[in-house]
Amino acid sequence: MAKQLSKVEVKGLEARFYDFFMDTLTLGKYKKFINDALSHIELKDGYKIIDFGSGTGRNIMILQKRAEKEGVNVEFYGADIGKVMSEKFKKKTSGYENIHFINHDIRKPFDFETGSFDAGMISFALHGFVQEERNKILSNFSHLIKKGGRLYIIDYNELDVNKSPWYVKFFYRKLECPLAEDFSSKNLEEILSGHGFKKYEYKIYFRNIIRLAIFERV
Ligand SMILES: C[S@@+](CC[C@H](N)C(=O)[O-])C[C@H]1O[C@@H](n2cnc3c(N)ncnc32)[C@H](O)[C@@H]1O
Repeated sequence: MAKQLSKVEVKGLEARFYDFFMDTLTLGKYKKFINDALSHIELKDGYKIIDFGSGTGRNIMILQKRAEKEGVNVEFYGADIGKVMSEKFKKKTSGYENIHFINHDIRKPFDFETGSFDAGMISFALHGFVQEERNKILSNFSHLIKKGGRLYIIDYNELDVNKSPWYVKFFYRKLECPLAEDFSSKNLEEILSGHGFKKYEYKIYFRNIIRLAIFERV
């Protein structure tokens, strides 16, 4: 059977237990990692932040809890097309009037006006698209994020799988989809500069495999 090109559309059981799988497959390390990565996202009173491929809403809820602690009001928007993921998102975020869900394909243009958001984020979704689609997604971010705003990309780091240790090769070639290796072979800074973003900062996790890439809209 041909190898599945992308695993970005999370469905069925995997979607139902997505957060649990992430925690257990990483031997409990995911929670600490995601909390640390998200702690680099700037939250300010009155901010509007959009999360592309928002999944179960776990990331937005982590940010919401921090906003509450810091006493700032942030308006969050999650965009996703997964049926089960959307149900989980709505359940997790119900009762929060500042958290909105949009059933929207992130490859397609959004209805919001240019520069409607202070920041955008996308976590473990961008790698799962072919480059042409990644460009459509990035161009949507470019339209939505105001000048001086930030884009946070949590995903695979740039690396040469051929030159990586055996366990990295095993992970990319046996467990992940082929698009993950393609994503890691790309120079994100170069791609993002074509969409009006410049590098702000990178944070590296999981032995160089995962990166939080922070860009600024110029
Ligand atoms: C691997 S999950 C990551 C979920 C979440 N960002 C996280 O880090 O926990 C990828 C998400 O992207 C969503 N997705 C896939 N293709 C999409 C598309 N074209 N438009 C919007 N969401 C999409 C899936 O439904 C799923 O929720």
